[in-house]
Amino acid sequence: MFDSAMDDFVNEVRERSDIREVISRYVTLNFKGGRYWACCPFHNEKTPSFTVSPDKGMFYCFGCHTGGNVFKFLSLIENVSYFDAIKLQAERLGIDLPSHKKTAAELKLEQKQKTLFKIMTLAQDFYHNNLVKTAAGETGRKYLEARGITSGVIEKFKLGYAPDSWDALTKALKSRGFDDRYLFDAGIVSRKQDGAGVYDRLRGRVIIPINDINGNVVAFGGRILGEGEPKYLNTPDTVIFSKGKLLFGLDKANRAIMSADCAVIVEGYMDAISLISAGIENVVATLGTAFSDNHARLLTRYTRRIILCYDSDEAGQRATIRALPMIQKAGAEVFVAVVPDGKDPDEFVRKHGKAAFENLLKNALPFFEYKLQYVMSHADIYSYQGKIRALRELLPVLAEIKDVMIQTEYRQKISAALVLDENIILDELHNFLANAEKKLNQKINPIAEKPEAQENILARQAGSSIIKKAWYEGDVLSYVLGYVPKEIFLTKHREILSYLEKCHEMGKHPNDLSAADELSEAANAELSRILASYPVNFSAADDKAYEDSLKVMRLIYVKSQYENIRREVEESYNSGDEAAYLEKLQRALEIQREMEELKFA
Ligand code: UTP
Ligand code: MN
Repeated sequence: MFDSAMDDFVNEVRERSDIREVISRYVTLNFKGGRYWACCPFHNEKTPSFTVSPDKGMFYCFGCHTGGNVFKFLSLIENVSYFDAIKLQAERLGIDLPSHKKTAAELKLEQKQKTLFKIMTLAQDFYHNNLVKTAAGETGRKYLEARGITSGVIEKFKLGYAPDSWDALTKALKSRGFDDRYLFDAGIVSRKQDGAGVYDRLRGRVIIPINDINGNVVAFGGRILGEGEPKYLNTPDTVIFSKGKLLFGLDKANRAIMSADCAVIVEGYMDAISLISAGIENVVATLGTAFSDNHARLLTRYTRRIILCYDSDEAGQRATIRALPMIQKAGAEVFVAVVPDGKDPDEFVRKHGKAAFENLLKNALPFFEYKLQYVMSHADIYSYQGKIRALRELLPVLAEIKDVMIQTEYRQKISAALVLDENIILDELHNFLANAEKKLNQKINPIAEKPEAQENILARQAGSSIIKKAWYEGDVLSYVLGYVPKEIFLTKHREILSYLEKCHEMGKHPNDLSAADELSEAANAELSRILASYPVNFSAADDKAYEDSLKVMRLIYVKSQYENIRREVEESYNSGDEAAYLEKLQRALEIQREMEELKFA
């Protein structure tokens, strides 16, 4: 549960947020019939079914059934958690996050992280000194020189050398008062097999410090000199380092990325170092892990134009194909720079220079073009099946292209490349979009009822009408739920009713914010739908609908009771318990009478 400062904070952000203004930053809203309309940003459509009701602070799409309040909208469109959406909106409005009292565990972790930062900085100094000042560093210096790495670059990246010794680093740090335990937790030593003590993890390697976004050293990579396995050895994940969430060089490249409004991603840190030292500064590298959503989100804080420049070997191409949609999903435009003749960016820039590399970047292929080339070179395009398979691989990319002209152009390109009729491409695209929409619905509305039985449709309509009434008039709840037990309502309606009961008990008006907080996704979307489809004021017709709905729900309830009692009547008859039999029969007849009455009411 939120503490009260947090409560006030969230309320303030909510109160100062104008849902219409927020949403219109992403889609164009048109006013019609008391509400704002737009084409839904969450599914593909041509006629608007996405609505915004500023008075209720809610949005709802009649097409894909996504709905909720302003924070829900932000969390979906920005692809962040609900709480992050609140923080994002607070930031835009200039509202400060309330300061939060740290728990003992948080304080302890912070203390530990501080110590590890200190250890890593000392280790960095140790390695760096070794490289630049000692005789043992000579081999390292030679290696870097042979790779064209200047002393300026060595200083900029604080490159180092780990002597070929089992305990040089361990000894140096122990003499500074750090024990085995901390050195191990920092990831720079390994434990001995017999458990007695530790030894240096990186030995006889050139050391590349890895920094977090604030420039703290959090890990090291070690390159073997010359041939050998493994070529690179990194220190492991620790409480200050998570390799899947860090991009090498981002602490140094972020300004260049912002000013170029473009980031280049390469596979290896040596590529990044090499490009940066050649004067191409908006470069980051992954750390021997696959490109992830985390990486994409990290980068899109600085730019929405990303160029992937991986090795052009088979593994690099596959990694590129995998990374592309992830970057696109994070909301960035993505391109691929292809390095010719199987070279990696490091080799290329050293051989051909900065201008040639910039030319590669300038000629980077849009996602679709790259994927088309990739599919063409990997598919069997001579059989019809092969063509369709290739086409289906292209559809997800094609479907993402919202610009009609460009999409048409690409359809023609596919048609020409695969020698396939354009109508087939269009048909396949339509099928793909229809399926994607179905899947999206399932994702957004995970516990949505299956194609509804007649009864479910009735229960949904009736339940909605009752909820509308109860949203504005909490007093009716005790009557409603006395007349129709809550279990009879659909799951998501049950959830909404419980929430409304709780608001009523606490003497609070229900509102979108607390609803979003307490309700499941499915119930929230349903509530948004109910409120969105409701005219501004209650009318006599609405009250009539509410009365009828109560009867419908009561009938569903009574029918279920009747099923039970009929079973009990039969059982007591079979067991020969005459008194019970007569009593149950009496009850069954009463229920039957009520059913008749309700049906004809
Ligand atoms: P590459 O094998 O392409 O290395 O691995 P590279 O970057 O071209 O390195 P040089 O130029 O030969 O020195 C790409 C990345 O994969 C990770 C490293 O992060 C490397 O930068 N890797 C590779 C490892 O973690 N361990 C390995 O043994 C090899
Ligand atoms: Mn290389």
